[in-house]
Amino acid sequence: MRRGLGRMLGRARLARAPCSSSPRPAVEPRRGAGSLALYDATAAPSVDLPLMASKWLRVQEDFITREEEKALALYFHERLCGQQYSEGHWDSVIVSYRETLMAWEELPAALRPAVERLASLFEPGAQVQRKVHAIDLSESHGRIDGHVDSVKFCGEHVIGLCLLSPAVMRFKRAAPDEVHAGTEERAGYVKVKPQAGDAAGAAAASATDAPGDMAPGAATTEWVAAPGTGAPGETVDVLLRRRSAYVMYGVGRFGYEHAVLGGVQRFGPEEVKVRRRRRISLIVRDEADSALAPVV
Ligand code: OGA
Ligand code: MN
Repeated sequence: MRRGLGRMLGRARLARAPCSSSPRPAVEPRRGAGSLALYDATAAPSVDLPLMASKWLRVQEDFITREEEKALALYFHERLCGQQYSEGHWDSVIVSYRETLMAWEELPAALRPAVERLASLFEPGAQVQRKVHAIDLSESHGRIDGHVDSVKFCGEHVIGLCLLSPAVMRFKRAAPDEVHAGTEERAGYVKVKPQAGDAAGAAAASATDAPGDMAPGAATTEWVAAPGTGAPGETVDVLLRRRSAYVMYGVGRFGYEHAVLGGVQRFGPEEVKVRRRRRISLIVRDEADSALAPVV
């Protein structure tokens, strides 16, 4: 995300908040709604959902067992319970949350296999960071607003594991000028040379030609969305059930903003009710590409 993990690590210790005995899991939306796991929320014709789902966004339901979910949730509940939920600052994309970052090796041995299994979801050759970033969103108003993860902290993949509550994750196609500099092609944009006669050519010509209805210098994008990747602004909703793992990769990671919605949402054409309760997610990432995020 545009905010960085550095912010988290630099934070002063917060006052201890009382811990309740155990985290309360949410009621799940009715099963049988599996076909709705990926939903073109703007009914936009240019998003190729099967392509999106097969290459750039994958959800694997029941990635962990109920026992693993319980043990992981309890562990992170206890680890985080000394922190108060942070409301976030005016410019932050995350609201009412607490978080922690730790090395896999620091996890109790019994919990490690579930987290290490996430490594199997990376594409071959990925340089997996052996760290887990846990985010606890409050039930009342915790949410993560749309953002693209910073290229300083993360490579081609963002992989998450969902505990305690279902959630709707909303993907919104970012415009070429909204994606991180240098990632336009990875974000599914292709560069086009402005042709005489098209808008860009007309804009260039308008400086010398008689004034037309095109403002002089009116810039048009040089980047156009690759087929099937969706037009800027189009949204795709994903239902993330408890115990599911998701993978954002390539265009799904660089070319779309993602958000974790709060409150009660209606998902898909059948309007399945999804009540976002307290949710803990465990995120693993791969190493940042140093060409995109030079070390300073
Ligand atoms: C993030 C993020 C999603 C989640 O930490 O950048 O988008 O599932 N998290 O918590
Ligand atoms: Mn993110």
